[in-house]
Amino acid sequence: MPVMLFACFHVDTQAWKAALAAADPGLEIRVWPDIGDPAEIDYAFVWKQPKGVLDGLPNLKAVFSLGAGVEHVLLDDSLPAHLPLVRMVDPTLVSSMVEFVVMRVLHYHRHMPTYEQQQREGLWKPLSQTLASDRRVAILGLGELGAASARALTGFGFDVLGWSRTAKDIAGIRCFHGPDGLEAMLAQADILVCLLPLTDQTRGILNRRTLSLLPAGAFLINAARGGHLVEDDLIPLLDGGRLAGATLDVFATEPLPTDHPFWTHSAITILPHTAALTHPGTASRIITANIARHRTGKGLVNVVDRAKGY
Ligand code: NAP
Ligand code: GLV
Repeated sequence: MPVMLFACFHVDTQAWKAALAAADPGLEIRVWPDIGDPAEIDYAFVWKQPKGVLDGLPNLKAVFSLGAGVEHVLLDDSLPAHLPLVRMVDPTLVSSMVEFVVMRVLHYHRHMPTYEQQQREGLWKPLSQTLASDRRVAILGLGELGAASARALTGFGFDVLGWSRTAKDIAGIRCFHGPDGLEAMLAQADILVCLLPLTDQTRGILNRRTLSLLPAGAFLINAARGGHLVEDDLIPLLDGGRLAGATLDVFATEPLPTDHPFWTHSAITILPHTAALTHPGTASRIITANIARHRTGKGLVNVVDRAKGY
């Protein structure tokens, strides 16, 4: 019977144990720190884990991340270099992110911040409506989440642009790549959505210089990682009119400290890292199917490229 170390924090452990047991009754789950004999652990399932939880597990065969993003695992020196690290790729996670991105893009596209302000003032004032085809929405990252969000936005008729590391050709999406592509795309982005992994190359990519390349009055939606945004740069850009609003789901420090100026800024919408939550039911079936592949000698799927960092 394979044994899995469960070292996921800030999640409902009982719900996850039940979902994993339902997906594979033959998988034994040991919740950290009650791991029993470390030599019996075959697989580890981690999320927001303290550093060092993977130390001293001589027969560990693979590590699974509860999230799509894996920077939290890669920063942990106890992750043995030779072990496969598997990230979460789940259609449910993708559809949740698509919902979130569409919701916030439509919010800005349909002038909701202004209408909400007008309601507070008791002001009845219809605004002119921009056609979706005249609204340029740019997505940083064209992977599982970015490409699906981009495709969904094309369904509304938006002029959709996307940026990736490698060149892409996706029907209906104006694709850019590399550093030159980034600048060219930003100059045309009325609404910018970040769905990049956090790596050495993407850390701080949303900063005063890059965000100043956006057309004046653009909106930012960051649903990737707090480390993508240089937080000190945002409020001056909003107050100076370069940006008209920002939706932030992720922060450098989570939970966002209670005295952080983002909480009270009228042009910032804060969410508690909930743009797309991994669903225990669907994700458990994906993880256990992957373990079954591994045990029958087939390769694991969704293994992270450690050199690229995603
Ligand atoms: P993914 O499938 O690995 O896609 C990553 C995309 O980013 C790819 O298109 C990749 O380009 C691009 N990219 C990576 N490094 C780049 C660089 N230096 N320059 C330009 N493009 C670069 O990842 P995913 O599953 O879509 O997830 C993306 C991120 O979303 C996760 O890493 C996580 O941080 C975040 N996330 C957040 C939430 C939330 O609730 N807020 C939920 C899930 C995930 P190539 O295609 O050329 O490789
Ligand atoms: C959530 O943030 C994830 O990476 O899946």
